[in-house]
Amino acid sequence: MENPIRASMDVNSVRKDFPTVRKGQGIYLDSACQSLRPDSVIRAVTEYYEEYPACGGRSVHSMATRVSIAVDESRETLASFFGTKDPECYVFTRNCTEGLNTAAYGLGLKRGDVVVTTDMEHNSNHVPWMRLAETAGVERRFSRSGKDGRFDIEAFHRCMDRKVKVVSVQQSSNVTGCTVPIKAVSEIAHDYGATVIVDGAQSAPHMKVDLEDLDADIYCMSIHKMLGPSGMGVMYGKREVLERLRPMALGGGTVGLATYDSVNLAPIPDRFEAGLHDYAGIVGTKAAIEYLSRIGMDEVEKWDSMLMRRIFSDLEDVPGLHVVGPDEPSLRGSVFSFNIDGLGAHDIGMMLDSMAGVMIRSGMHCTHPFYVSRGIDGSARASTYIYNTVDEIDIFASAVRHIAETFGQ
Ligand code: ALA
Repeated sequence: MENPIRASMDVNSVRKDFPTVRKGQGIYLDSACQSLRPDSVIRAVTEYYEEYPACGGRSVHSMATRVSIAVDESRETLASFFGTKDPECYVFTRNCTEGLNTAAYGLGLKRGDVVVTTDMEHNSNHVPWMRLAETAGVERRFSRSGKDGRFDIEAFHRCMDRKVKVVSVQQSSNVTGCTVPIKAVSEIAHDYGATVIVDGAQSAPHMKVDLEDLDADIYCMSIHKMLGPSGMGVMYGKREVLERLRPMALGGGTVGLATYDSVNLAPIPDRFEAGLHDYAGIVGTKAAIEYLSRIGMDEVEKWDSMLMRRIFSDLEDVPGLHVVGPDEPSLRGSVFSFNIDGLGAHDIGMMLDSMAGVMIRSGMHCTHPFYVSRGIDGSARASTYIYNTVDEIDIFASAVRHIAETFGQ
């Protein structure tokens, strides 16, 4: 099929930067779970451990000072990448989940306050609200999506009234790839005085995110899905929102002064970063963001779109294959979720790995309510990133075809 998207990224040069790709360790189509890491990120992490493995923000000796400077630089890199001015609005977390939990529990919601989510949320933007409903009497409302998972702005608008204190939505689904128009959602939510929280785990790695333009109050992401080290996330918040958010954990680094009977919280972002942090992860974060900046997020998005079109054209007429979510590549971001009649999702995943060296994810992808409500047991899911090639997609697709024709019903 002729491809109308002009993706000009030099994939061969990108591929040289990724050790597992250079070593030929299979075809990695599980980047929505965790991405591969380029040399520059691995080097930054190793350099930290080899040259300045001290703490940040505490001791004043030379090694620790180098760490403190590196932490500040990492925040500055994030602020510039996401189009905002204040690096102190970026809090380092372990992952997107930790950011979303900090936001949910920190806003001090009371009985009768309403939170609106979509019905497509990952468990990390679903279960904390359910817990708050049980423990604090918070009321939940779901903005219902279309049958194939598309966000419905009219349905969202109907959920809103002055009782809504929080709107907490994903920007892109990890199952369907569908994207929520955050700017429009923020505008509507703010008209009702609600705080907007965004789960950016699946969008920040794959599209240009301008946080000032989106106007969300809190935006969380996982750095390990965007070429960064494992166990790294970021919670961005507008200064006035972070200043009224209660930290989840308190202790070393989070206080200005504590006596036996009183405590002053440290300024943001320190009050949210209790205890010693993953400094290797923080310097690796800077390296990852710099790598993505060099490529350019417009190019990243075009590359993913081009690969998604290829997946659809390759798999068009495979017998018994059902796409989970929209049947339209331009709506899918970088995730292709599917089932094959007669086969379980894990069977597909294991066969692809053992027969063709293709690594995908299978199961419910931590989005159980979506699958349970539709009576589906889960799905196989292939997800792409900048190091994947058209040839890899063709190998994946031909293995899927073979599996469907040989083992499907
Ligand atoms: N939520 C991540 C995924 O979709 C782990 O794979």
